[in-house]
Amino acid sequence: MEFSIKSGNPEKQRKDCVVVGVFEARKLSAAAEALDRVSDGYLGNILRAGDLDGKPGSTLLLHSVPGVSAGRVLLVGLGKERELNERAYRQALRAAIKALGSLDVGDIATFLAEVPVKKRDVSWRVAQLVEVAEDSVYRFDRFKSKPAHSKKGIAKLQVHVPQRADVAAGEDGLKQGQALASGVSFAKDLGNLAPNYCTPTYLAEQAKALVKSHGLQVEVLEQADLEKLGMGSFLGVTKGSVQPPKLIVLQHKKGRKNQKPVVLVGKGITFDTGGISLKPGADMDEMKYDMCGAASVLGTFKTIAELGLPLNVVGIIPTCENMPDGNATRPGDVLTSMSGQTIEVLNTDAEGRLILCDALTYAERFEPQAVVDIATLTGACVIALGHHASGLFSNKDSLAEELLEAGNEAQDRAWHLPLWDDYQGQLDSNFADIANIGGRAGGSITAACFLSRFAKKYDWAHLDIAGTAWKSGKEKGATGRPVPLLTEFLKQRAGK
Ligand code: BES
Ligand code: MN
Ligand code: ZN
Repeated sequence: MEFSIKSGNPEKQRKDCVVVGVFEARKLSAAAEALDRVSDGYLGNILRAGDLDGKPGSTLLLHSVPGVSAGRVLLVGLGKERELNERAYRQALRAAIKALGSLDVGDIATFLAEVPVKKRDVSWRVAQLVEVAEDSVYRFDRFKSKPAHSKKGIAKLQVHVPQRADVAAGEDGLKQGQALASGVSFAKDLGNLAPNYCTPTYLAEQAKALVKSHGLQVEVLEQADLEKLGMGSFLGVTKGSVQPPKLIVLQHKKGRKNQKPVVLVGKGITFDTGGISLKPGADMDEMKYDMCGAASVLGTFKTIAELGLPLNVVGIIPTCENMPDGNATRPGDVLTSMSGQTIEVLNTDAEGRLILCDALTYAERFEPQAVVDIATLTGACVIALGHHASGLFSNKDSLAEELLEAGNEAQDRAWHLPLWDDYQGQLDSNFADIANIGGRAGGSITAACFLSRFAKKYDWAHLDIAGTAWKSGKEKGATGRPVPLLTEFLKQRAGK
């Protein structure tokens, strides 16, 4: 989609469609009022007739409005004027894009970013519009032999700001929104890609391609390198797979030379069968999404590189498959992690923590200011929080606070769960230093407790995104979360 920022009169736009907001109680936005004026009260009459109530998300399409140059006018409900907050605004944007998507319109001017949203400026309003528009029109049709959609789709979206003086702020919002949308869309593509294409090798290639196009650095460690490093835990997971494992290390170096980096660690299981502790068959296809932590790291790197964010950031992605075969790790096997701690594998399906723990130890060499790992780690997290919030754990309250705040700001929320020592005992093993599962009670917490044993040397947080990284059912697909949260967190760390 091609965006542009402009300040102009709604009645004069020669477009397929102009989009303007209306509030509840028949109150018109400034742009709607301008159209009403040139059309001798045409819009007011329609509202009085009761065809649109103005609730957030309601829409009404008008054709050939007198005095208006555009062929169509889309009215979009914004709710009560005094109550127009971030949620209602986004709801209205989504509804507008959906309504436009069902029409055969390509060239559009929108005046929705003109309306005042509580506590939010022009730049924010434009960024949201871009983000929501790109998110709503996203399709993954790489494997469809025929296009599923016959409509031409929105090709050009002109975003109007209230005044000429607002154009610069609008341009800034456009830049922020586009950078975020491109990271989110990249993360969705990787998540949605079939697991016979999206292998650890493919992820490494994608990282290399990203680095080339975006001025980053990358190093890909191979099986032999992992052996030399003593990553026995990570290697235990890949043993049943014919796909070679990779450890991808990305670097974005745009901060001061001596600034300690923020490290992002993403779980990259490109398919999780459960291994010898095989998962049940129903919905097992969804375990292609078990690399969404990795995808969110790659997506976030894309975004911050496009923004040239002045910060040093390292991305570490342990990636492999979890498959059963004659070589696969068995329940009862003992693995020796890079940290030296031994692990009794009681369930080969608790593999995410086994690859992450070695990556967390590897992170120490970067002397990080903070480490955040992102993982589709536990089904229990979906039970606890559903699909709305990611689970958040941390060994440092102020870091948890920062991430919660970033999630709120980006509307990509997380919820803080406990990491108390009380739970650690559930990981006791009779045969090794630690077991890889802690029983059914508090499954997300004991998974986080497991990771915490490998994250003692720095400030660390863990995001369990099992419920937020993708949608099931009819709308099955990756969401690109938590790229918005991570981007916002890094922006704050960069002082932006
Ligand atoms: N990738 C899964 C977690 C998962 C399950 C995410 C369902 C989304 C939906 C993870 O590797 C896993 O299998 N975890 C086990 C842990 C258990 C064996 C302690 C789980 O959650 O069942
Ligand atoms: Mn598993
Ligand atoms: Zn998994």
